[in-house]
Amino acid sequence: MTDSKPPSFSRIELATVTSRAQTNLLGNIHGGEIVKLADSAAGVVAQRHSGGPAVTAALDEMAFLEPVRVGDIVRTFAQVNWAGRSSMEIGVRIETQPWDATTDNVHVGSAYFVFVAIDGSGGPREVPRLEPETPDDERRLREAEIRRAHRLAKRAEIQAGRVSEQRPGAPAPQP
Ligand SMILES: CC(C)(COP(=O)(O)OP(=O)(O)OC[C@H]1O[C@@H](n2cnc3c(N)ncnc32)[C@H](O)[C@@H]1OP(=O)(O)O)[C@@H](O)C(=O)NCCC(=O)NCCS
Repeated sequence: MTDSKPPSFSRIELATVTSRAQTNLLGNIHGGEIVKLADSAAGVVAQRHSGGPAVTAALDEMAFLEPVRVGDIVRTFAQVNWAGRSSMEIGVRIETQPWDATTDNVHVGSAYFVFVAIDGSGGPREVPRLEPETPDDERRLREAEIRRAHRLAKRAEIQAGRVSEQRPGAPAPQP
């Protein structure tokens, strides 16, 4: 694929209001609900950038910084940080506006998702190149390249370790 798109082409902001059905035992919003919101926002961005379906391949570095309470407005900001042949890193920032105060938005979490664009048979599909427009876009691209290098190195090292530990005739280790 030869075309390219800037992060602004697919960047989105989603807002929702949290409810009691989403709480944990402490009465705050369950972390998994926040992950789901972030994954949904990242998925929209991946599909817009790639122009078709894309699936979550990996999630790393989900940081929870502050609790989210019932009734708070949650805002999710997502954009493509990096695009490879068929994979994309999507950065997500989550902020809340407390329901009972008119304070500034609170930064409650951040996450980095890897999405892979898929074709009709579920295999990887090529995506447009990413064309950074601003110094922030360029910084995010550089930092995403560092995270990708670490992800691939970690995966390769773990796989190499499993192969060297495998006894002759033993079943192959599961992923
Ligand atoms: C994601 C998926 C399509 C990748 O298929 P695959 O045959 O392993 O594809 P490849 O090995 O050719 O990798 C394709 C790309 O994904 C990247 N990738 C795959 N797994 C990855 C991982 N765990 N972390 C980071 N990147 C990953 C590869 O680096 C490659 O990137 P590139 O094309 O930009 O260079 C496949 O594993 C899949 O369908 N997984 C399930 C996805 C899903 O159902 N998600 C919802 C979870 S409920």
